Amino acid sequence: VFPDSNPTSNPVDIFRCVIAHHLAPITGVDIKLVYPALEWTQTLDKGDLILAVPRLRVKGNPTELGKQWVEKFPDSPFLERPKADGTFLRFYFKNSVLNQVVLSSIIKRKQNYGPVNSGKGKRVIVEFSSPNIAKPFHAGHLRSTIIGGFLSSLHEACGWDVVRMNYLGDWGKQFGILGVGFTRFGSEEELVKDPIRHLFDVYVDINAVIEEEKKAEREKLGLPEGAKLKYNGPTDDEARAFFARMEDGDEEALALWKRFRDLSIEKYKDTYARLNIQYDIYSGESQVSKEAMDKATAMMKEKNISEESEGAMIVDFTKHGAKKLGKAIVVKKDGTSLYLTRDIGAAMERYNKYKFDKMIYVVATQQDLHLQQLFKILELLGFEWAGKCQHINFGMVQGMSTRKGTVKFLDDILAEAKERMHEVMKKNEDKYAQVEEPEFIADTVGRSGVMVQDMSGKRINGYTFDIDRMTSFEGDTGPYLQYAHTRVCSILRKADVPMEKIENADLSLLTEPHATNLVRCLAQYPDVLQQTLKTLEPTTVVTYLFKMTHLLSSSYNVLHVLSSEDDVKCARLALYESARIVLNNGMSLLGLVPVERM
Ligand code: ARG
Repeated sequence: VFPDSNPTSNPVDIFRCVIAHHLAPITGVDIKLVYPALEWTQTLDKGDLILAVPRLRVKGNPTELGKQWVEKFPDSPFLERPKADGTFLRFYFKNSVLNQVVLSSIIKRKQNYGPVNSGKGKRVIVEFSSPNIAKPFHAGHLRSTIIGGFLSSLHEACGWDVVRMNYLGDWGKQFGILGVGFTRFGSEEELVKDPIRHLFDVYVDINAVIEEEKKAEREKLGLPEGAKLKYNGPTDDEARAFFARMEDGDEEALALWKRFRDLSIEKYKDTYARLNIQYDIYSGESQVSKEAMDKATAMMKEKNISEESEGAMIVDFTKHGAKKLGKAIVVKKDGTSLYLTRDIGAAMERYNKYKFDKMIYVVATQQDLHLQQLFKILELLGFEWAGKCQHINFGMVQGMSTRKGTVKFLDDILAEAKERMHEVMKKNEDKYAQVEEPEFIADTVGRSGVMVQDMSGKRINGYTFDIDRMTSFEGDTGPYLQYAHTRVCSILRKADVPMEKIENADLSLLTEPHATNLVRCLAQYPDVLQQTLKTLEPTTVVTYLFKMTHLLSSSYNVLHVLSSEDDVKCARLALYESARIVLNNGMSLLGLVPVERM
């Protein structure tokens, strides 16, 4: 009856169903409207779920209505007496029932607790990371990789068929520059060893040559520094010619380009694997077919979306009710395509191939205008799926430079985090001596630091890349989450009680407020994921995990294990085991690898 309701995977739905079932006849409001009006409160004293009376749109004084409804509300084995409080109704779960349905559901479902199968039968393309071969992998790509990886996992966990796509920047004049650069400065050996770094070095070197030649040209003509030139010098000309050959399908030029591309992808794969990311497709600007782009430009002409302007083809958005989008070139004077043209063709091809229900572009906010223009053109072209495209943007990272100089490559960033983490670990000599695989732990925890920092705030807010802060165990950091995980693991390990006894514990023995608050928090996890599917904000999950681990850590001082009677011990272990499962599930979903000892 209720959309998104699934009591088998979300135990709280049981309570929502009971409340809505009783309230519908009392209020005369359709049960389908009552159900979604029930909301969590911040703290237990305000009730578990509340309902704002005005939301039901029943005529009358809300305060009076609330009082009447509460009086008529029948006694239920699931609930304490509800309270009317001003214009709110407050509902309280019976603790013993809550403990039972929530903890047994978690322990039974284990790694499957949390996601609700709401995406079954639907397909989403998540396009993320998308670095430019030959240019540095910068912070924007790092953020796109982390956020996109998370959004892919989230959809997958919720039953979607996910296509993970990397749309490489692998075409354009810079490959002409690179081709020429490689013939002068390239080394076969270096290329195979570390293609991404080597190609970047070659790119820097050849650009320096071009800049020198431009300078000489300006001096010859007596032009001031930085002045635009018609002729940029022999090397630039050569690069242009090289790319023109690529566009014409010259086999030799393309063979070299293809080696750059293939070797780079191989290297990217290793790096992405460190972040638990595997792509379904390495697509890229080079992969967009000429047919698709020709079709798009023909349609734009035919539908009067585009017009001619100084030999080029442009779209003037101001004429299509989108003033803010200005104008954009879609075909250059010389007939070649642009970034935007390739994106239009790519979107069309993707829809034809995948018939997606949703397509997410995880790209920095600097490209807001580009993506708005793209989506507007798709809409003007009349594609019914245009509305299924969504730009997930994010803010900038500041201060990516470290002691070693400016960090440019993802590998460097991860290596730096690992090294810092290793240093932090070594400071605690006694503990360090007990760690079995310090290298692995430092790497894993360091990575957690980088990733959690990236997902902590709202996407649109940038942050300062501060390696000391992200590798700290204090505050809401990745290492703190890892520490919380190792601590709960260690409690379970030290108690040494067989899982069967924990599974059959008498959960009514969990009566302390600390236990109730923690169970209530664990119960919210499936709702948090449903909410995240709407916000597409990783911070929704990250914030939840910190709240949960804070409740967990404050429980240890109150809900002792080792000194407790056997039955109480088992009940508390069931609570801790449930918390461990939720923490593990949440961390894994974020792309972290929870460690058991460190
Ligand atoms: N390669 C681009 C860059 O590094 C990002 C690609 C974004 N995706 C897209 N479909 N335009 O800036």
